[in-house]
Amino acid sequence: MSDNIQRLRRDLASAVVDPVWPDGFSLRSFDAEDAPAVHRLMQIAYANGGGSVAAFDQWWPGVRDDGEFDAGLCFLAIDGRGEIVGAAQCWTSAFIKDLVVHPDARRLGVAEALLLTVFQAFRHRGATHVDLKVQLDNPSGAVRLYRRLGMRDVPIDG
Ligand SMILES: CC(C)(COP(=O)(O)OP(=O)(O)OC[C@H]1O[C@@H](n2cnc3c(N)ncnc32)[C@H](O)[C@@H]1OP(=O)(O)O)[C@@H](O)C(=O)NCCC(=O)NCCS
Repeated sequence: MSDNIQRLRRDLASAVVDPVWPDGFSLRSFDAEDAPAVHRLMQIAYANGGGSVAAFDQWWPGVRDDGEFDAGLCFLAIDGRGEIVGAAQCWTSAFIKDLVVHPDARRLGVAEALLLTVFQAFRHRGATHVDLKVQLDNPSGAVRLYRRLGMRDVPIDG
């Protein structure tokens, strides 16, 4: 399995272009009360592969109590009704732990806007780069998206 996993890095030395949110979608900050909805979204988003999420009772305490958790580094995309349709949850070590978009909101640019938001946030924090791990056979085209946004291969252990 690990042979299939690639670590990708976005260097943050140069400026990051501003995210452009697709019509009807916008960015919202995360609150602990959002945890169940974000977990449901992850279950739906990973249903056909690309990643996985533990049961809520394991997942949420594991995230919330992690020393690298910061609610300000969990970015939500909402639709016109205020429903959470995308999420990027990052660790303070400048690592994107999960990036998910609801199947009904895909291929509109929501993930791109979330990623550019993440890149800008870590640049503001003084990070030199931001990383993630991806399955090279990700069925929803995540690898292509990441490479298009300037992410490059680095060794799996950083
Ligand atoms: C991977 C994932 C997050 C991408 O989300 P998304 O919101 O669909 O991503 P975007 O819309 O920003 O980009 C996807 C594609 O749509 C294209 N697109 C964006 N806006 C578009 C538009 N208005 N019209 C047509 N195509 C568009 C993008 O160019 C991109 O094309 P590419 O694959 O050729 O690069 C989503 O598919 C997902 O949640 N997958 C399951 C979970 C997962 O695997 N997460 C990654 C774990 S590492």
